[in-house]
Amino acid sequence: MSRDDHIRIFDTTLRDGEQSPGCSMNLPEKLTLARQIAKLGVDVIEAGFAIASEGDYEAVRAVAKEIGDTKVASLARTGLMDVDRAAKALEPAALPRIHTFIATSDIHLEHKLKMGREQVLEEVDRAVRRSREFCDDVEFSAEDATRSDWDYLVQVFRCAVEAGATTLNVPDTVGYTTPVEYHELIRYLREHIPGSERLIFSLHCHNDLGLAVANSLAAVQAGARQVECTVNGIGERAGNTAMEEVVMALKTRPDVFDGLDTRVNTREIYPTSRLLSSIIGVPVQPNKAIVGDNAFAHEAGIHQHGVLQKAITYEIMTPQSIGRPSNELVLGKHSGRHALRDRLKEMGYELDAEALQRVFRQFKDLADRKKVIYNEDLEALVGESVVARRGRFELGDLLIQSGTFATPGATVEIFIDGEAHKATASGDGPVDAVFRAITELTGTRAELQNYQVKGITGGMDAQGEVTVIISGDDQRAIGHGAHTDIIVASARAYVNAINKLESMPGRAGDEPRGI
Ligand code: KIV
Ligand code: ZN
Repeated sequence: MSRDDHIRIFDTTLRDGEQSPGCSMNLPEKLTLARQIAKLGVDVIEAGFAIASEGDYEAVRAVAKEIGDTKVASLARTGLMDVDRAAKALEPAALPRIHTFIATSDIHLEHKLKMGREQVLEEVDRAVRRSREFCDDVEFSAEDATRSDWDYLVQVFRCAVEAGATTLNVPDTVGYTTPVEYHELIRYLREHIPGSERLIFSLHCHNDLGLAVANSLAAVQAGARQVECTVNGIGERAGNTAMEEVVMALKTRPDVFDGLDTRVNTREIYPTSRLLSSIIGVPVQPNKAIVGDNAFAHEAGIHQHGVLQKAITYEIMTPQSIGRPSNELVLGKHSGRHALRDRLKEMGYELDAEALQRVFRQFKDLADRKKVIYNEDLEALVGESVVARRGRFELGDLLIQSGTFATPGATVEIFIDGEAHKATASGDGPVDAVFRAITELTGTRAELQNYQVKGITGGMDAQGEVTVIISGDDQRAIGHGAHTDIIVASARAYVNAINKLESMPGRAGDEPRGI
């Protein structure tokens, strides 16, 4: 394999992933995730769609400023305003990429763009040339490529290359293609586009038929050298190609993929997956390949026996290779700050002094209530304390009444800018009563959209982790809370979400985000 033949990972978790319902993130969350994705070792981070909203513009700019040695891309339609906005957002980037796109299928031309084929060619030429005025690294995507006429697609890509594009992306926008067909398409394009050996062919698959990863790998075998994907496969509808599945397939089957590999540090895969999941509050399905809870769990006796004898009998990769920490007892009430910091670092969380102090306080508090503290307990603390941050409101004491012969009620103390306030409320149940009291104290107008409670680890003293999603003023926030008492966990999660909602910058002037 020549040095330049590695498979580039183009991570679009912050753009296509974030665009999917229930996966939106605020600016600090995007930055936290971008840092981790950079640490993972991807080649390009698509940080957003700069013209879509003020929030996206700010996110692209902030990621561009923060991330030094990974390319940072912004999406732009072919309109000059789009391209200029992307370029402006990318100004602080050390390695900027403008990613411009337009649809090429007749279906989209007729029903969406209302343009003829010639007009689309003009758009492509103009957008790519304009992009090249700002940076050398320009990617062009032919949206809905897999439902486009192949010869027209060749024409479009030739036009993009003549105007200066160096990466040609062939999206399966609606998840329609199949591995053999996609392989053929990539081969056809490489054969018919002059200078294709100097270009990077890229693929971008959606998972509507559950084929996104298979299609991506087939395209790699046809000569594509960039895979667009997302962490945990999040994305519009059924999602995008799952980054971890592609990376580990290449790693595990060099015999099939001609030794092609990515530059991803696979030991960062699991921490990245967990971080994303705790930021967006969307759990990974247990049987999800690579990062699901059961991905390495051998339930059948015969399998367990085999794995104990020799892991290779039933394990094609090790949990360690993706950075999955072993689930041993990690820390207890006598552990100090250094032990906690080291353990968190091993799990992929590098905290600054202030965040570490916050997590340490909560860790000590937890250790008083719980004898053994597992990695999952620590993850919940990080989710609550770091990802979710502090704000104006802080939960103080809490007293509830509930049962079969009393009206559920709660008295809650909240510190607002450091000053204690108390309120009492009744409700349909203790959680409802607590939320009502908190609502009264904080004056929030947010509505509860979703409430989930999950047991972390087993045992009588296990913690409950609560995730709430609230929305108000067209904004949406996710809060996490963990505690051995689920009512306290619920209160923490709710206050957490309110703090986050309060600190969100407006998305004034938003244009529709869908494309
Ligand atoms: O799915 C798609 O076609 C896209 C493009 C903008 C690359 O996300
Ligand atoms: Zn897409």
